[in-house]
Formats: sequence, C-alpha cells, structure tokens
Amino acid sequence: MIQTHGVEVTYSGNAQALKPCALRFEPGAFTVLLGASGAGKSTLLRALNGLVTPTGGHVEVEGIGKLDTRRRLQAHRRRTGMIFQQHQLIGRCTVLQNVLTGRLGYHSGLRTLLPASRSEKTMALEAIERVGLIDHALKRADQLSGGQQQRVGIARAMVQKPTLILADEPVASLDPATAERVLSLLHGICKSDGITAVVSLHQLDFARRYSDRIVALAQGAVVFDGPASRLGKTEVAKIYGSGPATADDDDTEPTPLKTGTYA
Ligand SMILES: Nc1ncnc2c1ncn2[C@@H]1O[C@H](COP(=O)(O)OP(=O)(O)OP(=O)(O)O)[C@@H](O)[C@H]1O
Ligand SMILES: [Mg+2]
Repeated sequence: MIQTHGVEVTYSGNAQALKPCALRFEPGAFTVLLGASGAGKSTLLRALNGLVTPTGGHVEVEGIGKLDTRRRLQAHRRRTGMIFQQHQLIGRCTVLQNVLTGRLGYHSGLRTLLPASRSEKTMALEAIERVGLIDHALKRADQLSGGQQQRVGIARAMVQKPTLILADEPVASLDPATAERVLSLLHGICKSDGITAVVSLHQLDFARRYSDRIVALAQGAVVFDGPASRLGKTEVAKIYGSGPATADDDDTEPTPLKTGTYA
C-alpha cells in the first residue's frame, strides 16, 4: 500500500502542478490515471517514487514508512518498477543486458560494475520469456519495434520483483492494436503477481476496460476517483473540458485522446 498525505508539487517559477492530494493505492489494485495534457499525471507518478520531491505533504509506503530519508527512498525504488512512454532502453545493448539493469537497485558500489550472476541472468531470461521475446534476447534493443521495446521495458521492471509498478503513458507511442496487446500484457502480469499498478493513459476506453479504479486530474486537482462504472459523460467533461475527448463516452474502439504531443 502506498499513500499520499497532502502531497503537493509546485515547480519553481510555475503554478501548482499538483494540488494537495490524499490518495491511497491498495495492494494489487490496477489504477488508471486520466487527465488532459498538463493535468499533473506525470507529476503525481514522479512524486510516488521520489523523482519529484513534494513541496508539501509526504508519501508513505507500507513496510517502509514515510519517504523522507535516502535509505527509505532507495528501499522503495528497488521494489518500484517504472515504465515510461519512451522505453528508456540502451539501444546498443542487448535485450538481456537492458533487462538486467532492472537488478541494479539490488547492488551497490563496485558490485554494479561486475557481470550479473547466473541467478540474475536466469531471472532476466524468465522475464524476457514471459513477455514473449525469448527469441530476441540477444538482439540489440534498437533493432526491435516500439511494441517489442515496451515489452522489454516491462521485463526490466519485472526483474526488480516489484510490489508497485508506475507506468507513465506506457502505450502512448504505439498503434492501437499493439497498445492493447502491451497494456493487456502489463495488466495480466500485475494481476497474476499481485502487483499494485498506477498507470497513466490517454485512452478512455482502455482506462474503462483495464482499471479497477480511475483517478482523474484536472489542473493538478483530483476531479474523479472511483470505478470506471461511475465515469459518465459529466465526469468525462469535467476531466477534459468540452473538447473532443468527451465524445467517445461509450466507445469500445481504442481512441487516442492526444495525438502529436510527442513527435
Ligand atoms: N520539470 C518541470 N518544471 C516546471 N514545470 C513543470 C515540470 N514538469 C511539469 N511541469 C508543469 O507541471 C504541470 C503538470 O505537468 P505534468 O507533466 O505532470 O502533466 P501531465 O498530466 O503528465 O501531462 P501530459 O499528458 O502532457 O504528459 C504542467 O503545467 C507542466 O507544464
Ligand atoms: Mg505526462
């Protein structure tokens, strides 16, 4: 369980990106974060693993406590898998090498310079097999498609043996069919391993189908918090304003709500 206690974030010289929020993420729940561009989704995700230091309030993690010391933050990050839109893989390294970087948080000092142990390699290969890429394990990461690269990102998070996955628009740069496959894979792994997940998405229909709970932000404030069944037209309008994003309320087709933001 991870909880924010009045967490707020104001970037220097900017308006408040995240207004004080009290959110509790229960173990094993798959939460989708929704919100228009600039609403504060990435800021909240980054605050949840200390990549952004809250300017007010604090984050508390079950079994670790308040994330107010370097040691606690390290302990939390070790068990927190981060998945980004742009994969953040090392292109010239193999899939296996990339996945092994997920183990680095378990080592310190010179040990990080030494080759991975046999057991870690086995763990990494198991994770690669789980995301269906065993035939590509020794290929360079930059030779894979976007969807395959994102699956490497998932495998890298898995070898951390995470209790929490934070994913920031993990499928935003993929075509709809690939996006669905990758999201379904991520969802399936989190559910079968009991991993708590907080995942930001721009596709309302994916949010409806894959979430246990939706938390929506608008201008840094939580404007909706509940199951997808309670997300009606009024709530969607509150999240996105009256723009085109409100149009697909009952759609089942994947509908990217934001296009072209990332070139
Ligand atoms: N490093 C930063 N320095 C200053 N302001 C920032 C920084 N990162 C984000 N912001 C501002 O904080 C607000 C929230 O940004 P954030 O990236 O959290 O939004 P988002 O919901 O993730 O948007 P998107 O859907 O475009 O990714 C925005 O107004 C943004 O301009
Ligand atoms: Mg963002």
